[in-house]
Amino acid sequence: MSPLRLRQLDLSLPERHLLQDLSLDLHGGLCTLLTGANGAGKSTLLRIVAGLTPANRLALPDLGGSTPRGAARRLRGLVTYIHQHPFMFRGPVRDNLLLALPWSLGYRARARRVDEALEWAELTHLRRNDAGGLSGGERQRLSLARAWLRGSPYLLLDEPTSNLDTASRERLRALLQVLLEKGHGLMIATHDPTHFRFAGCAHLHLADGRLRLAAPAGKDDETQGACA
Ligand SMILES: Nc1ncnc2c1ncn2[C@@H]1O[C@H](COP(=O)(O)OP(=O)(O)OP(=O)(O)O)[C@@H](O)[C@H]1O
Ligand SMILES: [Mg+2]
Repeated sequence: MSPLRLRQLDLSLPERHLLQDLSLDLHGGLCTLLTGANGAGKSTLLRIVAGLTPANRLALPDLGGSTPRGAARRLRGLVTYIHQHPFMFRGPVRDNLLLALPWSLGYRARARRVDEALEWAELTHLRRNDAGGLSGGERQRLSLARAWLRGSPYLLLDEPTSNLDTASRERLRALLQVLLEKGHGLMIATHDPTHFRFAGCAHLHLADGRLRLAAPAGKDDETQGACA
């Protein structure tokens, strides 16, 4: 899979130049960690990369999309953003997953894929429960299962472990490892990059509107050239 290359990514807010002419490459099978102080613009950056918030300026050299809105449309087809507190539809866990698949697949095929996703995310025992009653860790796994079903090549996670205990974090980490092995590209905004030491992780730090490659903290933090 060719990398997802974003260039000239720029966003000005009325009182602040939040993201300043950023370049970013995401690679299939690799994870990019994004750190930065509260308010640095991490969530905004992820939402732009997912095509949910238009930038003032954004070029996708390999995909076209000559306007920021055109670029956002292209990105929405490739990228899924997973919110820190994922949104759940009212009703059973299983129905939340059925909704992720197109009706054109037919009920039996959809049901089979949903069963696979439930098993993958270790949620089979909760399939009939109301999704609104899931714990934070279960919500994260359900939202990952939805993203898995949608098949987006790139998944962006916004502080996925902020409320998770060690066991839930480990389960989430194991699912992310499987996604990486299947070739998905991940980008994770986090205040604790030590939670996500996957092989070949790039670690970018956002400050004053700019991205810089963070110095590796240890052997596992070896960086790839994911930003320019
Ligand atoms: N649509 C908007 N209009 C005005 N200001 C905005 C808008 N979106 C984001 N901001 C501002 O941009 C800044 C960056 O917000 P953002 O949520 O991206 O930061 P963050 O790095 O994710 O912070 P945290 O670590 O607290 O999650 C904040 O000051 C926020 O108020
Ligand atoms: Mg944020």
